[in-house]
Amino acid sequence: MLDANHDIAPRLLAWYDRHARRLPWRVGPKDRGRGVAPDPYRVWLSEVMLQQTTVAAVKSYFEAFTAAWPTVVDLAEAPRDDVMKAWAGLGYYARARNLHACAQAVARDHHGRFPETARGLRALPGIGEYTAAAIAAIAFDESAAVVDGNVERVIARLFAIDTPLPEAKKIIRGIQSRLTPSTRAGDYAQAMMDLGAGICTPKRPACSLCPVNDVCIAHARGDEDRYPVKAEKPERPTRYGDAFVAVRADGSVLLRKRPDDGLLGGMAEVPGSEWTSRKNALDPVPDAPIQADWQRVPGTVVHVFTHFRLELNVYCARVAAMEKAPDGHWWSTPEALPFEALPSVMKKVAEAALPGATRKRPKEDKAA
Ligand code: ADE
Repeated sequence: MLDANHDIAPRLLAWYDRHARRLPWRVGPKDRGRGVAPDPYRVWLSEVMLQQTTVAAVKSYFEAFTAAWPTVVDLAEAPRDDVMKAWAGLGYYARARNLHACAQAVARDHHGRFPETARGLRALPGIGEYTAAAIAAIAFDESAAVVDGNVERVIARLFAIDTPLPEAKKIIRGIQSRLTPSTRAGDYAQAMMDLGAGICTPKRPACSLCPVNDVCIAHARGDEDRYPVKAEKPERPTRYGDAFVAVRADGSVLLRKRPDDGLLGGMAEVPGSEWTSRKNALDPVPDAPIQADWQRVPGTVVHVFTHFRLELNVYCARVAAMEKAPDGHWWSTPEALPFEALPSVMKKVAEAALPGATRKRPKEDKAA
């Protein structure tokens, strides 16, 4: 029977030494062994990007950010709108606002050097318990307990934890504290993450390849799929709204900026109505940004946010070349549109009315 003092760290580390994923922000175990130190800026940037986002989705954004802003001071000095534009499409936009605020705090209050402890890191904007522990372990080798979704699944299975998530988080963190070794804590954390991502997967885990399958209680019971046990989630409500794609004679599209606080704060959007729980909202035209011959685009745009599902009716109108942008709005040219800070939902809206309009041209794609 596995107890929380069981020494699985050496086996996980040995497995990691052979099978660590190569990731753009990672200093692999071989280089770590040769004394190459991770750059805390790259570790921080990757961990913030990886909150709620997959490794596959993050890679190109990480490359683009580090190419544009090689150091935390470069990022701190960038205009915030440029950061929001570079973040567009990654989602959870509060992360981008906090990312910029954090870079500025590090540049201004810490002479451009990240604090080296989880406690010090925790005091910075956008760095919660998970991220502080991950950076402290990976960049500074602090023996901090790192628990993300992958680690939760691995530990829930190893120990057959019947308490449902999120209640089980405390138990899992306690176990991870005891399992985390005093040296190579960062490699240990990343070994757990890689195990969760590649072997101890949510569906059909590859237990025969797992370096700790002999001590896994769920595996011994043939019950891997049961874990992690999750509390039932309330159903996602649907909200409804209208969006208005005004297209000027030169192909420019009318945009505005969302307020800084709240959902998609600080990002650009196609003008629209409020989003409400009423499906057949009233006449959409009074919400239109300008008077025009608005035509309904067939179908709806659906986007799933964490707490609700959004269904938008899209209207499109062609307007004259000299049509003025109302206060707080601007005309985005066909060349500029793909580079605006448009969140995915707004890209979908623009694409519904103007297919291809938000796509970057092939040459620019590489840099993006
Ligand atoms: N997910 C979050 N942080 C990660 C990391 N450092 N390596 C791999 N996957 C991760």
